[in-house]
Amino acid sequence: MECAPHVWRPYCQHETAPPPLPVVGAHGCRLHLSDGRELVDGIASWWTAAHGYNHPHIRARVSAQLATLPHVAFGGLANEPAYTLAKRLVGMMPAPLSRVFFVESGSVAVEVALKMSLQSFANRGESQRRKIVCFEDAYHGDTLATMSLSDPVSGMHRAFTGTGVDAVHLPLPVDANLTLSNDVAAVIVEPLSQCAGGMRFHGAEVLRRLRRACDDSGALLIFDEIATGFFRTGARFAMGTAGVTPDIVTLGKALTGGTLPLAAVVASDAVFDKFLSSRTEDALQHGPTYMGNALACAAAHASLDLFERADYTQLVKALSNKLESRLRPLAAKNDVTDVRVLGALGVVEMKRGTAPQAAAFAERGAFIRPLRLAHADVVYLAPPLVIDDTDLDVLATALGSTL
Ligand SMILES: Cc1ncc(COP(=O)(O)O)c(C=O)c1O
Repeated sequence: MECAPHVWRPYCQHETAPPPLPVVGAHGCRLHLSDGRELVDGIASWWTAAHGYNHPHIRARVSAQLATLPHVAFGGLANEPAYTLAKRLVGMMPAPLSRVFFVESGSVAVEVALKMSLQSFANRGESQRRKIVCFEDAYHGDTLATMSLSDPVSGMHRAFTGTGVDAVHLPLPVDANLTLSNDVAAVIVEPLSQCAGGMRFHGAEVLRRLRRACDDSGALLIFDEIATGFFRTGARFAMGTAGVTPDIVTLGKALTGGTLPLAAVVASDAVFDKFLSSRTEDALQHGPTYMGNALACAAAHASLDLFERADYTQLVKALSNKLESRLRPLAAKNDVTDVRVLGALGVVEMKRGTAPQAAAFAERGAFIRPLRLAHADVVYLAPPLVIDDTDLDVLATALGSTL
């Protein structure tokens, strides 16, 4: 397979980066390279491939959908997989989360959650509520508004400071309550684990404090569960573990089991009601071309079937224990500053600039891509949730011997 030089790659310094690894197939937890090598995927294609690759059930449902209706516009038309998926997602959510808006990527889902928040206040004559409170070490996406919510110091979006929404960056309220001013429209947080901003974990008390602060001030609480959702941190959703219900939640990544791009924003009845009036301009002003794509929704149904067929809570609990016992000894290695595990996330934090390159892990049969932040290098495992002991051993051994 030839990797032509016309592709502009993600987060890539083309001047110095090695060529990408050409993948010609993937099964279970393994990526098959064109030179015949197999790598165990330690990060499940950015945490999407929860059930492993090329699962026959997802393949069958997508193939059947492809043969009948791959896509039809969502404006004025309905397709069955999207409408039944919305019902199914709402069935998994605590009340009053009940209205689903489909988009094609996580970043756009966060954009829509922000638009819902700002417009819901504007529709009721409260346009002074423009501020969005977000947190240090957060990551919410790569579009202009979502970049402005990500950490301006440690994140990768420093060149864009000053663009996007009116964001207020605060430390997470780990040991003190938070008071919000009455110009705050919404507070957004990745519940229990901030992921791409450094794989940092926090407790449920932080989320309870945020809920109280929003209730006291009238601001909306948004949980960005794009990374944490679908058992990555243990329970189906982090909000379930925490026992805190937001006003809006964003979902993506493992929703389709890593097969097709789909994300969703689920809002409460109260948020939805703010858009009801006799004026057309009060309607939510958003509608992407591939919204509610039937193929992607069929893949999501298949992924949800699989989540229902097995006990993923137990699966992740067992995986978590294994990650803990395999990674904990790495705390003694040079340059390692912290080892932590939450659910199916195993993290080895290292001094800045000391993490090995992905190629060093690949030589040992593992695909692992450290996060390189301003304050640290973060080597992490977020494998398919179904990974078996043999493949986990490949990852852990590669990590241990490379560090
Ligand atoms: C918490 C969170 N929000 C939003 C996004 C953006 O999702 P996407 O890459 O699908 O745009 C990500 C991606 O890593 C994420 O982890």
